[in-house]
Amino acid sequence: MTKIYTADGSYTLYDEDFGEHYHSLTCGALGETMQKHIIPAFNALAKDADELNILDICFGLGFNTLASISYAKQHYPRLKLNIFSPELNAALVKRLVSFSYPVEIKNIELIKSISERFIFEDERYSVTVAIGDARESLRDIDRKFDIVYQDAFSPAKNPRLWSSEYFSQISDLMSKKALITTYSRSMAVKIAMFNTGLGIYELEHDGIRSSTVAANFELSNLKKIDMLMKMKNSPNTKPLLDKDIDGKR
Ligand SMILES: C[S@@+](CC[C@H](N)C(=O)[O-])C[C@H]1O[C@@H](n2cnc3c(N)ncnc32)[C@H](O)[C@@H]1O
Repeated sequence: MTKIYTADGSYTLYDEDFGEHYHSLTCGALGETMQKHIIPAFNALAKDADELNILDICFGLGFNTLASISYAKQHYPRLKLNIFSPELNAALVKRLVSFSYPVEIKNIELIKSISERFIFEDERYSVTVAIGDARESLRDIDRKFDIVYQDAFSPAKNPRLWSSEYFSQISDLMSKKALITTYSRSMAVKIAMFNTGLGIYELEHDGIRSSTVAANFELSNLKKIDMLMKMKNSPNTKPLLDKDIDGKR
């Protein structure tokens, strides 16, 4: 594993097949995880919850899963988390014990268990990594998720995990009060999520690019995007459709 240094001092990897890094080098792997996914999701949902079901798309190095657990331990110690995370690359997951995680999220027991058995469970946290194609793995799921971390490789490299049909599958799996966090700011992605009935919000950060939250309930502390106006102003921007990305991943 050739680890790559990112702006906040945490490491990430580069995927040769997809031709992309697992995290933004300029945001920092840990910074991106916390600011774009964990903190906004927990701020919106953890205060009133006893238990949260999380869908982590996709497991990769496991930053979102590890950070959810360490953040919950620190701020919401009674909260139970059930995390389901699809991942195509079994060989990567098996090697994660040798990856240099930041101390803030490092959890050797969890990583060892996931890399050996793709599962971890203790009295408060359960994690299942489903090896295979995410869209196939999600077909067999009969539970609902409160939080979806949409952290696939970019729409250009991994379009099947950003299409209208994909987001319609995700929206069917969301609980009554649920949200999606994503680093993507693409208008086509926002439209695909908006078309499933979600409200779209812009999340601003200090010193790094803004990100997006999509929710099926009102998020009063975030800036809601007027999607009808945006779509009127850019009529040529269309969401990805499966039929247009045949043959790509
Ligand atoms: C950007 S990385 C995820 C980073 C991860 N969230 C983290 O924090 O470490 C994208 C991951 O999606 C996986 N992947 C790509 N296509 C997939 C698919 N169709 N089904 C499941 N996993 C997929 C890749 O192998 C890679 O590990």
